[in-house]
Amino acid sequence: MANDRIGWAVDVLSPGASERILEVGCGHGVAVTMVCDRLIDGRVVAVDRSATMIAAAKRRNARHLAAGRAEFHTAELASADFSEARFDKAFALRVGPFARGDPARELMVLARHLSPAGRLYLFHDEPSRSADDVARRLKAGVRGNAWTVEAVLKKRLDGCNVACVIALPPKPNATADEPKR
Ligand SMILES: C[S@@+](CC[C@H](N)C(=O)[O-])C[C@H]1O[C@@H](n2cnc3c(N)ncnc32)[C@H](O)[C@@H]1O
Repeated sequence: MANDRIGWAVDVLSPGASERILEVGCGHGVAVTMVCDRLIDGRVVAVDRSATMIAAAKRRNARHLAAGRAEFHTAELASADFSEARFDKAFALRVGPFARGDPARELMVLARHLSPAGRLYLFHDEPSRSADDVARRLKAGVRGNAWTVEAVLKKRLDGCNVACVIALPPKPNATADEPKR
């Protein structure tokens, strides 16, 4: 397992060679590079609300972009249009809306575009918070929207207390009021 924050996240994500993967809030595109390096005929779609970050991520991943393995869009997740795309995995690293407030709109988009066996991987850390505290917030965000938490991982990396929550979208017709597992 890698012992840097992004390398560890990509190890946990464990992209399959043919998987379709969505990254939310890709920043400079460091994780996209690591994921693409593991793909054969799979594909990564990355979004970030910052056009500056998307430009930097495209520069960094020019080779993968040219090979058709990576695609980048400037968009807020909540209003992103992925057309008919279905993803095997979606992930986000240090993306605020999942750790603060209610990510209802973001999760609704993800639920629509994850394949039936799809999983969401949320990684987050904050300097003044323990991994337990960060994990609690991530779990509250997904469970409050009827997602199921499948696993919680915690690790100290690069001086950060990183938490990862792996979650499954609600079954069609489930509501946020159903009992939490
Ligand atoms: C703290 S940076 C993390 C960048 C990268 N994931 C990493 O871990 O190094 C958060 C990134 O998420 C993007 N972001 C935040 N909220 C977003 C949203 N709702 N939709 C799309 N991108 C978002 C920001 O523009 C920023 O580039």
